[in-house]
Amino acid sequence: MNKRFYITTAIDYVNGRPHLGHAYEKIIADVIARARRSLGQEVFFLTGLDEHGQKVQQAAVTEKKSPQVYCDELAAEWKAFAQKLGLTNNDFVRTTEPRHKETVQACLTRANDAGHFYRKTYSGFYSTREETFLTEKDRLPDGTFDPAWGEVVELKEDNYFFKLGDHQQWLMDYIGQNPNFIAPDYRRNEVLGFLKSSTLEDLCISRPVSRLGWGIPIPFDPGYVTYVWFDALVNYISIPAAQGDPTVLAAIGKNSQSTEQTSLWPADVHVIGKDILKFHAVYWPIMLKALGLPLPKQILVHGWWQKDGQRISKSTGNVVDPIAVIDEWGVDAFRFYVLRELDIGPDGNWTDGGFRARYSAELANGLGNLVNRSLSMLKRYRDGIVPAKSDELAGEAAKALNETRSNLEQNQLQAALQSIQALVTRANQYVDQTAPFKLAKDPAQAKRLDEVLYNLAETCRVLAVLYQPFLPGTAAKIYDQLGLGAAPDKFSEAAWGKLQPGHKIGEPAPLFPRKDV
Ligand code: MSP
Repeated sequence: MNKRFYITTAIDYVNGRPHLGHAYEKIIADVIARARRSLGQEVFFLTGLDEHGQKVQQAAVTEKKSPQVYCDELAAEWKAFAQKLGLTNNDFVRTTEPRHKETVQACLTRANDAGHFYRKTYSGFYSTREETFLTEKDRLPDGTFDPAWGEVVELKEDNYFFKLGDHQQWLMDYIGQNPNFIAPDYRRNEVLGFLKSSTLEDLCISRPVSRLGWGIPIPFDPGYVTYVWFDALVNYISIPAAQGDPTVLAAIGKNSQSTEQTSLWPADVHVIGKDILKFHAVYWPIMLKALGLPLPKQILVHGWWQKDGQRISKSTGNVVDPIAVIDEWGVDAFRFYVLRELDIGPDGNWTDGGFRARYSAELANGLGNLVNRSLSMLKRYRDGIVPAKSDELAGEAAKALNETRSNLEQNQLQAALQSIQALVTRANQYVDQTAPFKLAKDPAQAKRLDEVLYNLAETCRVLAVLYQPFLPGTAAKIYDQLGLGAAPDKFSEAAWGKLQPGHKIGEPAPLFPRKDV
C-alpha cells in the first residue's frame, strides 16, 4: 500500500459566508493537488467545515433552528462553493459527522489515559466571541481588553487542561531541526520567536455543557464538551481513520471499518492562513506527539487578502464575492488571478482594476491570443493538418517545463505561473518575428510556414499541460481545439514533439473573450 500525498486546508467556520480568503486557500490546495497528480503521485485532498461552537449555537437559536439543521443547510452552500471553485477534493469533512466525532473521542480517551490532561478550577476572564480564556497579558495598558475580543466575562469554573508546557523544548528542537516544517521561513521564525520568548500555558480543552451544548462530549466526563480547536484540528486525522489509514488507527486503538486501507498520515501539507498559525504549529504538533503520531511534513502559511487596501469585512460591505467574479469572468480567470497576484506568504490586495488588467493582458491578449491565432492559422493555411515536426521552440518549452516542475515540487505556485507565462510571451513574440501571415502569401516559403505552424501548435499543447493544475477548464479546451482526446493532466506529456504530423486539429474558439471595460 503506497502512502498517498495528503494535502489539507483549514476547515471553514460553517456560519460565515464563503469569501475571497476562503477561496484563495482552497485554490492553493487544489492546484498543489492537481500538480502532484499530474506529476504522477497519488493524492488525497481534504477540505471541509468546522461546525461546532458557541457562535454556531447562537446563530441557530437566532434562526429558531436546531444547530444540526442550521449546519446542514449551510454545508450544502459550502459544498456548492467548493464545486464552483473547481476543487478536486477527495473528501469533505464536517465536524458534526459521526466518523469525525468518534475519532475526536478516541483521541481524548487516549490522551487522558496517557496522563496528558488534568482538571482544575479556573477563574479569570473569557472572551465569548473568540471562545477563549484571556490572561493578564491580553489586557491593554489601560486595563481593559481589546474590543476585538467582544464581550469579556469573568468566570469561575472547573475544566480539563492539556499539559502543553511539558513539550515546549521538544517542539523548539523539532522546528529547529526541520527547516521545512513551517513555510515560508519568516513564519517559522515567528513561531520559534514566540516559543523562545514565552512559556506555554496549559490549554483548556473543555467547556461545561451548561455553558456550551453544541460540541463533542468528552468521553470521560459527560458534563463537558471539547474545546472547538481540539475538535477541529483532529479532522486532519479523523478522515484518514475513516479511510482506513493504518498509522492513525493504530495510534487511536481502533480497527478499520473501511474495506479499503488508504495510507495517508502524516499529511504532506497543511495549507492555512497566518491567523491560525499558532494552533497548527504549536498546539497541533503537541497533540500529535501526545497521541504518538508523526508530525505533518509541512505547514504552508498564506497571507491575508484585503480589498482596496482595507480589511475584508461584511459589516462595511468591503467584500469580494468569488461567486459573482466567477459568474462574470469564469473560474479559471479567478483561479489564475489569485495565484498570479499573490505569492504564498505575504498579504495581498484585491482591486477590480488589477483583476481586469491581468485578465486582459495575460489571459485574453497573452495565452488566449496565442492559442487562437496559432490554431486559426493552422486551420486556414493547412486545413488544420499538423505539418512535419520542427523544434525551434523546443529549448524554450523545455526550460518552461523544467522550471515549472521544480516550482511545483516546492509549492511555488506564483513562480510556476511566471515560468509558464515566459513561454507564452516567447511564442507570441515568435509569431510577430516569423510573421506566418506573410509567409502564407509566398508559395516559396511553404516549408518555413510549416515549421512555424508546428512550433506554435506544439507550444500550445505544451502550455495546456503546464497550465492544467491552474486552469483546468482552459487546458481541456486547448486540448479539445487541438483535436486531442485525452486530458492534459500528465506532466510527462509536456515533453516536446508529441503532436504528430498529419493529425487534424479541432475548431479554434476564443478562450478568454475580450471584455469592454
Ligand atoms: N475553523 C477555523 C480553522 C480550523 S482548521 C483546523 C477557521 N475558520 S475560518 O473560516 O475563520 O478561516 C478559514 C481559513 O480562511 C483560515 O485559514 C483563514 O486564514 C482563511 N482566511 C479567512 N479570511 C482570509 C482573508 N481575508 N484572506 C486570506 N485568507 C483568509 O479559522
